[in-house]
Amino acid sequence: MPEVSPIHRHVRSMTLEEKAGLVSGAAFWETRAVERLGIPAITLTDGPHGVRLQRQSVDHLGIFASEPATSFPTASATGSSWDPELLAEMGRALGAESRVLGVDVLLGPGVNIKRSPLCGRNFEYFSEDPFHSGAMGAALVRGIESQGVGASVKHFAANNQETDRMRVNVEVDERTLREIYFPAFERVVRDARPSTVMCAYNRVNGVFASQHRWLLTDVLRGDWGFDGYVVSDWGAVVDPPAAVEAGLDLEMPSTGDRSPRAIVAAVQAGELDEAVLDQAVSRLLTVHERLIQSRTADVSADFDEHHELARRIAADSAVLLANESGILPLSPSAGGDIAVIGEFALTPRYQGAGSSHINPTRLTDALTSIREATSRAIRFAPGFTFDGEDDAALHDQAVEVAARSEVVVLFLGLPASAESEGFDRTHLLLPETQRTLLRRVAEANHRVVVVLSNGGVVALGEIAAQAPAILEMWLGGQATGEAAADLLFGVAEPGGRLAETIPVALPHTPAYINWPGENGVVRYGEGLYVGYRWYDKTEREVGFPFGFGLGYTTFAYTDMKVSVPDPAHASGSVEVTVANTGDRSGADVVQVYVGDPESSVNRPVRELKGFAKVRLNPGERRTVRIDLDERAFAFWGPSGWTVEPGVFVIEAGPNSRDLPLREEVVLEVPAVATILDRNSTLEEWIRHPSGAKALQGAMAAMGQMGGAMASEEMLPLFGSMPLRTVLNFALQSAPETFDVDTALGDLLAQVEPV
Ligand code: GLC
Repeated sequence: MPEVSPIHRHVRSMTLEEKAGLVSGAAFWETRAVERLGIPAITLTDGPHGVRLQRQSVDHLGIFASEPATSFPTASATGSSWDPELLAEMGRALGAESRVLGVDVLLGPGVNIKRSPLCGRNFEYFSEDPFHSGAMGAALVRGIESQGVGASVKHFAANNQETDRMRVNVEVDERTLREIYFPAFERVVRDARPSTVMCAYNRVNGVFASQHRWLLTDVLRGDWGFDGYVVSDWGAVVDPPAAVEAGLDLEMPSTGDRSPRAIVAAVQAGELDEAVLDQAVSRLLTVHERLIQSRTADVSADFDEHHELARRIAADSAVLLANESGILPLSPSAGGDIAVIGEFALTPRYQGAGSSHINPTRLTDALTSIREATSRAIRFAPGFTFDGEDDAALHDQAVEVAARSEVVVLFLGLPASAESEGFDRTHLLLPETQRTLLRRVAEANHRVVVVLSNGGVVALGEIAAQAPAILEMWLGGQATGEAAADLLFGVAEPGGRLAETIPVALPHTPAYINWPGENGVVRYGEGLYVGYRWYDKTEREVGFPFGFGLGYTTFAYTDMKVSVPDPAHASGSVEVTVANTGDRSGADVVQVYVGDPESSVNRPVRELKGFAKVRLNPGERRTVRIDLDERAFAFWGPSGWTVEPGVFVIEAGPNSRDLPLREEVVLEVPAVATILDRNSTLEEWIRHPSGAKALQGAMAAMGQMGGAMASEEMLPLFGSMPLRTVLNFALQSAPETFDVDTALGDLLAQVEPV
């Protein structure tokens, strides 16, 4: 008799009421304890870039106060670092702070794909690309979990807008889910093994994610081997028994005794199998037992060190989009006065609104940091107000300051009112008052460096036309002010690369005609074509491409070597040599994309399948190797992940539109035979290994018409017809004894299974 584990002994000794209580939260942030069995409550709280622990009033939108914690740069910044090691370091810091604050599960990262730049919560997500998003999310989760704190990768699945998020029905085909909206979750689950996955609010193809058996059980556990537990988004459960049945293990927050009563009643009525409830309880106890063991007394967190880490991350995530005639970095000592203009220099925008909102341990503004970093005279003007009311006088003052200075550093961005969890944006422009200010300042002084603070991307056409330098700092966390000064004076280098395309204009964006849906339904009509996949496929110009970013030095890419040891197997590696050809140390991100030009299905022109960040001193060169597994070549087909034989294009370079290195490889993997059935077409039969042979006899038996139809030259005409129709047509000249159904059945019987 196998030894019964203590957890299973607990489950067996629990009453139905105790079990029903465990799968429902006890309060806003805590699970239920079972004193009788020595099972303690567990604390879960936000969030992806800082610990938001509330001890008094509680909420899920960051309205009420929370304990001080390090407010790290948000995901649209950290995703731009393209540096998994850095994300892991941030995860370790988040885990340590969670421990010190008594948090057992930290609710993050968010790895939802940025389907549209209008999503109000894009500041909290990494990327438009699933490979990139999965790599960054997995690194952060590894860091958090390494401290004995559970992570919660969210929001599973297809939560890509805030509009109507708690009930909107996302209509999306399985291939798009598998290739675009699932892979980041799959990568995190398979590589980083998070303690929990958080289900989304929305419906997916008609079923709420909180009770979607295919999502929570078949895919998450069956396909990916997830062995933690599924927690609901706060308030996402609609039908508690149905949720447990589908694979949801913990409903948060508490609903009092409403949900436990519903679960007890469902078990007693035979509508919910108690064994399923036991399984959910067992999953919870297994994870919580491990987390409780980590509640060691010797926890500590160095908040000063974490502030410096936040500063380093902010610099390494900043994307230098333009730097004409090398206006940056500025000299900290030589040169004339510097005009610092913009309210954001004094009042930093460093995080997003909503559940991820942190009470920072410290906050530095750029103006103070700039003053401390240079001996040059600094003149400040706020330039605008966040509500944009009556800014004319502020504009005049700013223009006067700009005219008297050698260079202008202009801090622009999105005010908190422009983007947030809970609502989406309606356009991609900066506020009118800021655009007017830029125009007037640039007229007074053409040496303008624009520093941006925004979570979601902004259309930058008119800014790029007027400002020789643009530094995108996203929402750079509590140390964003110091990081800005470090970057402006070259103490640090902007290490970021775009993880989201900056479009020329909103109507160019992939989801534009399907956003944000209507009558409670949003159709993902663009399918796979999200982000650069869309702009490349439609050959559309972009403002700044996915993967783009400048530094303070330059790099050269040479000596690409693609190796596929056995063409019969879809796996290999790419080697690329990168050299620092400038006079300063710096980092670049080698990006490798794979394209499948001969595919039988519609595929993106290229897809990111590997990247590596390299830091090089002047003159240094390094060869990086990036492995390509089978998934790097595959698409999701009727029989799952599929690689077809033929030519594949491997490209490498510094961004998705600058890929100087290119090689073709030919894979000789077995052809993917179509599974023939009663609706298969003539061409599918002719292309099928044993179908063609079986067909030869049948077509000959049908005389002249049959022979003609099966000829290569007639294929364009008849090839797309179901064979049953061709047989009927051929019947006109076949002997009376010929019966189509019998003939088709005989043919199918001759086909060997693939
Ligand atoms: C929110 C968010 C989720 C967060 C949770 C708890 O509605 O969607 O990301 O972790 O509720 O605040």
